[in-house]
Amino acid sequence: MISSTRRLALCYGTRPQIVKASVLLGALSADWGVKTFDTGQHYDWTLNGLHYQQLGVRPPDTYLEVGSADHSRQTADILVRVAKALDEYRPEVVVVIGDTNSTLGCALAGAQKRMPVVHVEAGLRANDLLMPEEINRRVVDEISVLLCAPSRRAERYLRNRVSVAQHVAFTGDVARDVLERALKRPELPDAPWQQHGLEPPFVLATLHRAELTGHPDWLRAVVKGFGGLSLPVFFPAHPRTVKALSAAGIRDLPPNVRLSDPVGYLEMVAWAKRSEAIVTDSGGLQREAYWLGTPCVTVRAATEWQETLAEGANILVRPQEAGDLADILSEHPGLARAWQRDAFGTGDAGEAVRQSLQEVFG
Ligand code: UD1
Repeated sequence: MISSTRRLALCYGTRPQIVKASVLLGALSADWGVKTFDTGQHYDWTLNGLHYQQLGVRPPDTYLEVGSADHSRQTADILVRVAKALDEYRPEVVVVIGDTNSTLGCALAGAQKRMPVVHVEAGLRANDLLMPEEINRRVVDEISVLLCAPSRRAERYLRNRVSVAQHVAFTGDVARDVLERALKRPELPDAPWQQHGLEPPFVLATLHRAELTGHPDWLRAVVKGFGGLSLPVFFPAHPRTVKALSAAGIRDLPPNVRLSDPVGYLEMVAWAKRSEAIVTDSGGLQREAYWLGTPCVTVRAATEWQETLAEGANILVRPQEAGDLADILSEHPGLARAWQRDAFGTGDAGEAVRQSLQEVFG
């Protein structure tokens, strides 16, 4: 008999994790008393509150107000604050999502408190140890008791490596659950481009990764690539990217580029669905493009979402080589939009995560 007095801590702190928490919170609450911990890694309305609101996520039970700092300081602050909060709550299980500094800090706090950690989105590798996210996901996989793999490839990778004390489950990707639900929602905006003075066809672009924003030359190359496209480019920019553009001396964007504040999840789905192509360094948008049938160009040296490449939906372009985006896009293998779309499950990952917890923790 399941009792909601069984305590589970659901920990997150960034925009995409709030999005995924919307599904996990609903699924896990069937078996557990769930308390949510938002580290506060993302705190701006457009990266935090807006997503709670749009996805109907209840306000966090504990908000830790960590804010921005360099990776070490931010991770250390998360670790210390979450450890204290977990001490007070004493959960039976700690669930973390993805590969951010919040994921690492919360997983480490749980493991150090001898609370079994569940890693949702486990087993992904870009094989690039210069990426903070690669470091985070590797460490979290090592210290988690239950590893929920979003793809068969991630599952295989983990099964070949885990210790006898660990459990691996193929669950699929909770981001797909969120997307499938969003596509059925009446609130999904019909034409968010109209308020930006645009009409299809257009290209959607996002950039936010530290590797890219920290290299002014790379940023300039990508912006030049945008300018070479014959279509308008809608560019909702992360606050860090806006600062990086200014630091790189890029004051005037090419005339076809429409810079915007970050948009809500539902607006983003509408844009991604209707775009001719997506240019991004976001892991989330790479999969959303794949599910929605929109060809994607990922401006990174490597990606952990290898299946999207294998199926021709996505191509990798090094940022420093993105100046020729028009040529790159015109030769995109995904222009026929013919790939199959089920490499990360079919939209029931939240329920699969719930079941895998039940199998491991009873
Ligand atoms: C983080 C994750 C990244 C994830 C992304 C999702 C890490 C290492 N990176 O990147 O994996 O894809 O979230 O969006 O955890 N800032 C604001 N307002 C905010 C938050 C941040 O202005 O609410 C600015 C600050 O200048 C800050 C910078 O963005 O220094 C970077 O923020 P940070 O939390 O370090 O990482 P993200 O780039 O958002």
